[in-house]
Amino acid sequence: MILLGVNIDHCATLRQARYRDAGPDEVGAVEPDPVEFALQSEQAGADGITVHLREDRRHIQDLDVRRLRRQVRTRLNLEMACTPAMIAYALELRPEFVCVVPEGRQEVTTEGGLDVVGNRERVRECIAAMNAAGIKTSLFIDPDVPQIELSAELGAPFIELHTGAYAHAYFTPRRAAEFERLRAGAVRAHQAGLTVNAGHGINYENIAEVRTLPHLYELNIGHSIVSRALFTGVDEAVREMKRRMNS
Ligand code: PXP
Repeated sequence: MILLGVNIDHCATLRQARYRDAGPDEVGAVEPDPVEFALQSEQAGADGITVHLREDRRHIQDLDVRRLRRQVRTRLNLEMACTPAMIAYALELRPEFVCVVPEGRQEVTTEGGLDVVGNRERVRECIAAMNAAGIKTSLFIDPDVPQIELSAELGAPFIELHTGAYAHAYFTPRRAAEFERLRAGAVRAHQAGLTVNAGHGINYENIAEVRTLPHLYELNIGHSIVSRALFTGVDEAVREMKRRMNS
């Protein structure tokens, strides 16, 4: 069984498009509420809820994260930049998982994953702080051998393979090569003792191939589920993705 983490950031994107200046007293009056999206996702079988609290707070807000921490019953996965401020934030929040993602330009490789090799000491400190607090760290990386090997060496229990390049290439001749990069990366990570998650750009069509990647533990999926939910409702959108993931 591959697990599903539902990323609710784009529910918040939609809310922010209209209610950017809403205050805490207006929770419940503004819509769509990402916390409600999370709770309905859990009811429909989501195995975890993922949010990315960005430095620019463009979608998920601090108040959303605090409400989620109180109400999520599965597992909360906080995506965050590898900065002292976010490390302190996570240590106080105590999510079950953090996923370290690139935000600042210096952390981004050409394909968009976290550059663990170029930020070795900062990433090491983050993993050590989370391990000490009992929070499981995942590193969002491209399927490149040096990034994978260093992730294992630094003591990260999880990686999340960045499936964006594959998803982008899906209707092009590069698709097979991008899939092979992911497959080889998953095998290498598993050999190195890492648990393998994947995410970004996964949708109801490409899931048929993505789910055949070896050693997958969890997929983090956001945009396609939030988009589908506009037409079918959250329950059907989540159930249908889970069906396709494990059919
Ligand atoms: N995984 C990570 C690390 C992400 O940052 C995101 C959001 O960009 C996702 C998964 C979900 O991507 P999508 O919204 O394309 O499904």
